[in-house]
Amino acid sequence: MLETEFYRVKRLPPYVFAEVNAMKARARAAGDDIIDLGMGNPDQPTPQHIVDKLAEAAANPRAHRYSASRGIPGLRRALAAYYERRFNVTVDPDTETIVTLGSKEGLANLAQAITSPGDIVLAPNPSYPIHAFGFIIAGGSVRHIPCEPNQAFLDALERGVRHSVPKPIAVLLNYPSNPTALLANLDFYGQVVDFCRYHGIWILSDMAYSEIYFGDEPPPSILQVPGAREVAVEFTSLSKSYNMPGWRIGFAAGNRHLIGALTRIKSYLDYGAFTPVQVAATAALNGPQDCVAEIRSLYKDRRDAMVEAFDQTGWSIPSPPATMFAWAPLPPAFAHLGSLEFSKLLLQEAKVAVSPGIGFGEHGDQHVRIALVENRQRIRQAARNIKTFLSNYDKVLEDSERKRTEV
Ligand SMILES: Cc1ncc(COP(=O)(O)O)c(C=O)c1O
Repeated sequence: MLETEFYRVKRLPPYVFAEVNAMKARARAAGDDIIDLGMGNPDQPTPQHIVDKLAEAAANPRAHRYSASRGIPGLRRALAAYYERRFNVTVDPDTETIVTLGSKEGLANLAQAITSPGDIVLAPNPSYPIHAFGFIIAGGSVRHIPCEPNQAFLDALERGVRHSVPKPIAVLLNYPSNPTALLANLDFYGQVVDFCRYHGIWILSDMAYSEIYFGDEPPPSILQVPGAREVAVEFTSLSKSYNMPGWRIGFAAGNRHLIGALTRIKSYLDYGAFTPVQVAATAALNGPQDCVAEIRSLYKDRRDAMVEAFDQTGWSIPSPPATMFAWAPLPPAFAHLGSLEFSKLLLQEAKVAVSPGIGFGEHGDQHVRIALVENRQRIRQAARNIKTFLSNYDKVLEDSERKRTEV
């Protein structure tokens, strides 16, 4: 008898979003116009000069060979230049940077590289799934901590160290945060760095939304904290900053032992992104940056339209200071349903798809994540549909209760 209950696969619960996605596909197949605010998949094209660079590089047969697993030197230098100009942080492109196939791949493979079976990692809940599951796939165990960057977080770190045997090997940070849109400041990073240096704990900081912020202060990098690179590595990505999610280009920068570990493991796994993609990514980082400001301002416009339009529905949502997501508490009348049932109702009754917060962890179950990936008109249309749905909610709840008890 063949064993089909594979150890790693067994540790991965079914993907919560799959249920809503399947409903969405069925509704679309039946002809419904679904307004999709579910996935964080940027809907706008990559800036033209980057696409042109890709085409130019792809025309060169020399670029068709295997590339460099840790990234072409010019791209690693471009990342170092970005850190210098944006954060005033100097990293050595040779020993303190690596190019990854998107930041998700980098996070997952670094988890593989540093985790022994049974190792404990501190990961926020709710969080982007790979933050916890990267380590779970690698055979580790996760102790959940809150994601708000405040004293409660620091207390949870303290308890994590006191009550875990063996002591945690790493902590994951993600600011600006998906799904909560929370931001951290340098003071907070400084306290986490001090704590982790003292206790000998690695820090993996995910900064995929480094450029998607709406206030006057750009989010800081943890590498700005003096001494941070003794314990920390930071992931960044072109997916959101330059509308390049499908290109699969991200980076890690920071501690040279962590960069070295990721470099080693990746040298066994891949040959690097297609060279023309890396050449175009270099052009993105080194070229004109007004496209980044335009992308930021598009999300800000949509955010403002969303917050204003939702205010009219009776379901007010907090205005996110960064990222491409609003993290919305369930309307009180629906709180008892939890986020998955509420998301299904919203899809069925208002034709609006959102991501149920439970998909980001148990502490997300009183929220849904609403992505800013449709234009302003569609966002307003979504709010109108939701308003009609909410104004009718007694009947909707009654019907849904009846259907549930009939099953
Ligand atoms: C917090 C966070 N980290 C990483 C990623 C993955 O980005 P990439 O396309 O660089 O793999 C995402 C994508 O949605 C994200 O939200």
